[in-house]
Amino acid sequence: MRQPLVAGNWKMNGSRASIAELLDGLKAGIGNVRTVEVALCAPAIYIPDTQVQLDGSAIKWGGQDVSVHAAGAYTGEIAAAMLTDFGCHFVIIGHSERRAYHSESDALVAEKFAASREAGLVPILCVGETLEEREQGVTEQVVARQLDAVIAHCGIDTVGEGVVAYEPVWAIGTGKTATPEQAQEVHAFIRGRLAANSQTVAEGLRILYGGSMNPKNAAELMAQPDIDGGLIGGASLKAADFLAVCAAANR
Ligand code: PGA
Repeated sequence: MRQPLVAGNWKMNGSRASIAELLDGLKAGIGNVRTVEVALCAPAIYIPDTQVQLDGSAIKWGGQDVSVHAAGAYTGEIAAAMLTDFGCHFVIIGHSERRAYHSESDALVAEKFAASREAGLVPILCVGETLEEREQGVTEQVVARQLDAVIAHCGIDTVGEGVVAYEPVWAIGTGKTATPEQAQEVHAFIRGRLAANSQTVAEGLRILYGGSMNPKNAAELMAQPDIDGGLIGGASLKAADFLAVCAAANR
């Protein structure tokens, strides 16, 4: 039985004050969500504040990106060990915004996955097609390419130590959610791809859905057999919404 995971991705939003308020609300409400693993991926500069507020609570935290390098002359980069130094459990890897706006290639994403695991972080590997790719009917090819690059570089067992998030790019921040059937189809494809390498990894690995998941559509999506939780952008910025999504994942 895979434990559901709901991870918030604040992206580049918030201030010290707004994050303190949000975390107060989340800590107050999270008690009712018992069977779900819950995490928040904060902008790097707010990770120390997040750690101070979440320490000792049931909520874990993480980063939104990481360097492939362990240390050294890499101005502006943040190493995986720096994230663990501040208690991070998770890190988002290969988010479509990083692939699109920061030219992250499949190969670089695979290296980031490896660097995260080496430092003991649990990487949340994002995969997903653009609207154009979906319309061309190449969704499965795109997702397979993104996944295979990490399997080839890290090995299937290391991939099994992480989490995969299927995030159709056309559904991110647009209010357009994939239907439960559309999402399930790709999730099942991903699990099948993993199974071709290792049945054990395929059965144990959590595959999250991300892309305009909110309190209204979360339960229906989470009810799909291969959807094991969510990666939540917009709805993670409001305590009530995020808690409602966590409650929908409660099994
Ligand atoms: P969204 O973002 O929930 O705002 O669509 C999800 C994500 O990009 O991780």
